[in-house]
Amino acid sequence: MLVDAGGFFPEQADYEDAAWFLMDGMKLLGTDAVGMGEKELRYGRSFLLANLKRTQLPMVCANITDKTTKKPLVAPWLVKKVGAVKVGVFGLMSDKVDTGPSRDSLAVSEPTAAATKAVAALKKQGATVIVLLSQLGKVESEDLVTAVDGIDAVIVGRNVPLLQKGRMIKNTVACYGGEQGQYLGRTLLTLSPARKMVSGENETFILGPEVGEKAEILALVKSFEDSFNDKLRKIEKERVAKQAAGSSSESGLEADHFLGAEVCGRCHTSEMAQWKTTSHARAWETLVDNKVDARPDCIPCHVVGYQQAGGWKTADDAAKLGDVQCENCHGMGTEHDSYPTQARRITAETCMTCHNSTTSPSFDFAIYQPHVVHSPVANLPPLPVNPNKKAKMLEMGKGQ
Ligand code: HEC
Ligand code: HEC
Ligand code: HEC
Ligand code: HEC
Repeated sequence: MLVDAGGFFPEQADYEDAAWFLMDGMKLLGTDAVGMGEKELRYGRSFLLANLKRTQLPMVCANITDKTTKKPLVAPWLVKKVGAVKVGVFGLMSDKVDTGPSRDSLAVSEPTAAATKAVAALKKQGATVIVLLSQLGKVESEDLVTAVDGIDAVIVGRNVPLLQKGRMIKNTVACYGGEQGQYLGRTLLTLSPARKMVSGENETFILGPEVGEKAEILALVKSFEDSFNDKLRKIEKERVAKQAAGSSSESGLEADHFLGAEVCGRCHTSEMAQWKTTSHARAWETLVDNKVDARPDCIPCHVVGYQQAGGWKTADDAAKLGDVQCENCHGMGTEHDSYPTQARRITAETCMTCHNSTTSPSFDFAIYQPHVVHSPVANLPPLPVNPNKKAKMLEMGKGQ
């Protein structure tokens, strides 16, 4: 069986799309059951219920009900036949959390009592193996399986530290979550002829590139990234429009501001021609090609003067202010007269506002600088090759 402890909705406002995308992805992977926690209620109950209906993702939680009807919000548990074995799966969330925008209509009951009831009900339905998908946290989950008999395995979620190997807690095998879907736990239960657990073990694996991609998932990721990027672009535009409306009395630009490379190129033709051969002149294109050009966490180092005077405000500025240009290194064009005149005054600090230990781990000023000056030495030794660089940067763009 493939199960998930829940707690996978993203932290940010405006990221609803990532939530439905993850639900689609789990369904596509054939997830047999998924738990739920307060994160899944972040965007309200209607959002969750509508997407459960749409995706048919089997979400379970045995201790959340509608306050008025007293009915469970989602299925409390399910029974699934795996070979000849009936496996019962139920979920639990914490009763000490804020249940989000729908908090007034929802009640979360005390987990131990709910678990006792769920185990009895599942046994009655013929389940001989019982699995708990817990959003209680580490200590609370461990306490619960110690107090309630009959749970064979628990998938422990909600801010749990990653433990590579699960462990036995009384008679229950515990598996610990890990962060951001980067790990997969494997729990093996050995059953008696009566199909009851005699022993169990668990281990967690890192999902590295060697695992490979599933074509359908890849297609889903792509369609998600396209539409998500469009949406963020719209939100950003609205934000800027609001800002502009709020400051309509502003009478133009501050004294010092960015001008854009086109202006510099009118006089400095040879520097311009050389700059065009560097990857700095393609930095904006890199974001567009990878469909991350509306992400406020990606734009600043790939454009000129992000949200500063005369600098980048919206994607409409791409032609003028996209890419890492002259002024990223030399400073605002209006300060031209006071640019220092002795050679070699751009220091490593200027570069390292962008080339930091995350974005450019192999950065070394002495090696990189000769590649950007405008009369580069012939036959420069090549830059350090870092084959994972691009993948790593794009990975940054996916984290939530
Ligand atoms: C109207 C023509 C013109 C424009 C436009 C112009 N520059 Fe210059 N720039 C010059 C001249 C002429 C000098 C040499 C000044 C001197 O020697 O005192 C110079 C000097 C410089 C220097 C110092 C070179 C040195 O070693 O002395 C830098 C750096 C520079 N410009 C960058 C820029 C950038 C960046 C822009 C665009 C924001 C820009 N320039 C726009 C004409 C221009
Ligand atoms: C405003 C941010 C920013 C600043 C400042 C900056 N860079 Fe970059 N640099 C980038 C980005 C972004 C790229 C990648 C461009 C792409 O391929 O999309 C890059 C790429 C490079 C590359 C090419 C690396 C390769 O493997 O192809 C070199 C070399 C480089 N920078 C050197 C420098 C040096 C030296 C300085 C300082 C004098 C500097 N950069 C300042 C953002 C910056
Ligand atoms: C702090 C500045 C900074 C931020 C923020 C930033 N980048 Fe970059 N990016 C760089 C620098 C610097 C390089 C070049 C690194 C090098 O070659 O050493 C780069 C290179 C890249 C490359 C590789 C280009 C190539 O083909 O070699 C990609 C892709 C990329 N960035 C995407 C992103 C994405 C996606 C985000 C947002 C999650 C992002 N960047 C945010 C500074 C930044
Ligand atoms: C990645 C950083 C970077 C970018 C981008 C950049 N320069 Fe430079 N530029 C330098 C460095 C480094 C020097 C060498 C002198 C120094 O250290 O100040 C230099 C020197 C110059 C000089 C002095 C004369 C010369 O050719 O050495 C001029 C003029 C100049 N740049 C103009 C420009 C213009 C115009 C652009 C945009 C088309 C540009 N630079 C883009 C880093 C940069």
